[in-house]
Amino acid sequence: MTKQPGNKILRVLDLFCGCGGLSLGLEWSIGPRGEKFQVAAAVDNWAIACETYELNHGVKPHNNGVSNELITEILSQTGPIDVVVGGPPCQGFSTSGKRSLSDPRNKLVLAFLEAVELAQPKAFIMENVVGFTTFQDGQLLREVKEMARLLGFKVRAGVVQASIVGVPQRRRRFVLVGVRSGDFVFPGEKEDIERQLSEGLDVDLTFRDGHEQWSFNDATSDLPPLDAGQSIDAYATGPKNELQRFLRNKSNSPTDHTAVGHRPGFVKMMSYIPEGKSALDPEVSATIPEAIRPKSGYPNSYARIQGNKPSPTITRNFTTPSSANCIHPSQNRALSIREGARCQSFPDTFRFLGTIEEKRLQIGNAVPPLLGKAIGENLLKTLFAGA
Ligand SMILES: C[S@@+](CC[C@H](N)C(=O)[O-])C[C@H]1O[C@@H](n2cnc3c(N)ncnc32)[C@H](O)[C@@H]1O
Repeated sequence: MTKQPGNKILRVLDLFCGCGGLSLGLEWSIGPRGEKFQVAAAVDNWAIACETYELNHGVKPHNNGVSNELITEILSQTGPIDVVVGGPPCQGFSTSGKRSLSDPRNKLVLAFLEAVELAQPKAFIMENVVGFTTFQDGQLLREVKEMARLLGFKVRAGVVQASIVGVPQRRRRFVLVGVRSGDFVFPGEKEDIERQLSEGLDVDLTFRDGHEQWSFNDATSDLPPLDAGQSIDAYATGPKNELQRFLRNKSNSPTDHTAVGHRPGFVKMMSYIPEGKSALDPEVSATIPEAIRPKSGYPNSYARIQGNKPSPTITRNFTTPSSANCIHPSQNRALSIREGARCQSFPDTFRFLGTIEEKRLQIGNAVPPLLGKAIGENLLKTLFAGA
């Protein structure tokens, strides 16, 4: 028998849900008096992400594009929704004086706000890339905040750093939270974390690095060493710290501890790169034999992660050293799928479906669940303050 939600369970609609990193963080959140979130419905137009979502959350997302018609249909099935969440994809571009929200290239941001208008929730959480704050010189963000205010929400916008809430990764995300009443506070904001009001932007706060808890090694050192192209489904040791115990989540073996293959010359080339350095750094490049030396790349290309720091941002390219900072600190290969998932704070019990390419996209796209939990718990505190 399914448990009927009581008034301490907030029903969530997750739009653009992907594999469900944000949903998982919300499901982990516990309010001041035990209040919780429960996903009532989710939407994504990518079939394999929907399958991963269903496997891990037990809710089958609507595999469809977000539209007013779909939201209306969903609401007729779910009944009232308390919180709408999601990260609508959008691109940065210049608009030359037009309204940003009426530009078709921002249609998914507008679709998210229209879903909020249709659902009339108590609160919403919209997340996005940090660049959201500067798209069209901040015009898009100003219009989004203005529309949310017109819909009856008090809004706060912030750039949050995942490493300060226990995620073993430096990943900054833009987060906009709207509540009907009360004052939402960003994770860490009330602590003495270095805080700066950003100049000229319509953002309430941004965090610099600070109060980091966990490094890449802390997150992954119980996983066995791998060669490029190898996969091992056993732990190397017992859990070495609280984070590893948490990430294992009582799992007996890791899945997806699989490293993609690299050409032998490429493996040799990686052996010349010290921790925290790139093959493109002049002093490193000079040591690499000409025949295998990379000649050009992006600022993050061919870089080796520093093991005693949080990982760099896990992007959708975290198995491709030519396009991301993703070489293991001490092994000559890109991160395994499970290492990427651990840096994102997904537990080992979370299973990803699809090809390696599809798995890395789902992982790199996700909100780190521990960041979702930190935001979710602060939202519960706001909504249930004095309850
Ligand atoms: C940044 S990811 C979301 C990650 C997710 N919040 C998480 O934490 O795992 C954005 C998602 O939007 C989906 N998407 C893109 N266009 C869409 C559309 N028109 N309707 C529904 N989903 C869409 C993509 O398939 C992708 O999974």
